[in-house]
Amino acid sequence: MKFSIVSIAALATVAATVSATLTINEPWGETTWTSGGNGSVTWNSTAEEVGKLCEIHLLTGEATAATFVANLTSNGNLVPCNYTRVNFNHLPDYAAGDYFVRLGENGGSMDLYSYSGYFKYIGNGTVTVEAPATNATAATDPTVDAVTQPAAPVDSAPATI
Ligand SMILES: *[C@@H]1O[C@H](CO)[C@@H](O)[C@H](O)[C@H]1NC(C)=O
Ligand SMILES: *[C@@H]1O[C@H](CO)[C@@H](O)[C@H](O)[C@H]1NC(C)=O
Ligand SMILES: *[C@@H]1O[C@H](CO)[C@@H](O)[C@H](O)[C@H]1NC(C)=O
Ligand SMILES: *[C@@H]1O[C@H](CO)[C@@H](O)[C@H](O)[C@H]1NC(C)=O
Ligand SMILES: *[C@@H]1O[C@H](CO)[C@@H](O)[C@H](O)[C@H]1NC(C)=O
Ligand SMILES: *[C@@H]1O[C@H](CO)[C@@H](O)[C@H](O)[C@H]1NC(C)=O
Repeated sequence: MKFSIVSIAALATVAATVSATLTINEPWGETTWTSGGNGSVTWNSTAEEVGKLCEIHLLTGEATAATFVANLTSNGNLVPCNYTRVNFNHLPDYAAGDYFVRLGENGGSMDLYSYSGYFKYIGNGTVTVEAPATNATAATDPTVDAVTQPAAPVDSAPATI
């Protein structure tokens, strides 16, 4: 799979779709995720997100016709929406290209999701993209690690799958 250089216009399209209550700070344009390595997502939320659980998805392609790559918070690895950071370990070997993530309340409206900018993903594409409607497969999903809260970082154990 080949992806062209992301235009400023395309980035603006993604960035314009921002939830009022969740704002993704990272990944952004300078970020690179490498298969087998770690990827961090950081965000800010408003008080109304306290007590809610969020899911994070990895996507690629044009913002208006994006390809759903993975539910990074599958298998019950949802993150509290009022946290500010989650680390994904063992990133699957997806094809190199420009990707972005989105964050939103579990089961919530897609209209309320917050989107990151495009960032580089480095991989050889030995893991193929999951079909959108099916359950994510445990074998290829990254593990979730070190979810932290703003005030006091929590050193949580890696989630079991
Ligand atoms: C990924 O993060 C874990 C801790 O969360 C660390 O032990 C490991 O070295 C990191 N791996 C890479 C490739 O950065
Ligand atoms: C947003 O979250 C970052 C951590 O990701 C934190 O350092 C920063 O203080 C937060 N900003 C606001 C306005 O809450
Ligand atoms: C996040 O929400 C939980 C309740 O689900 C609460 O216990 C925790 O203190 C909140 N953290 C922050 C930083 O607001
Ligand atoms: C999806 O996963 C859940 C638990 O992770 C399981 O209970 C359910 O049967 C799965 N559905 C399908 C269609 O595989
Ligand atoms: C992502 O996984 C969570 C379970 O951890 C599930 O509730 C949610 O529906 C999944 N989202 C998508 C888009 O598959
Ligand atoms: C991609 O394949 C090359 C050659 O087989 C290998 O050296 C490299 O480590 C692989 N990259 C990743 C991210 O797996």
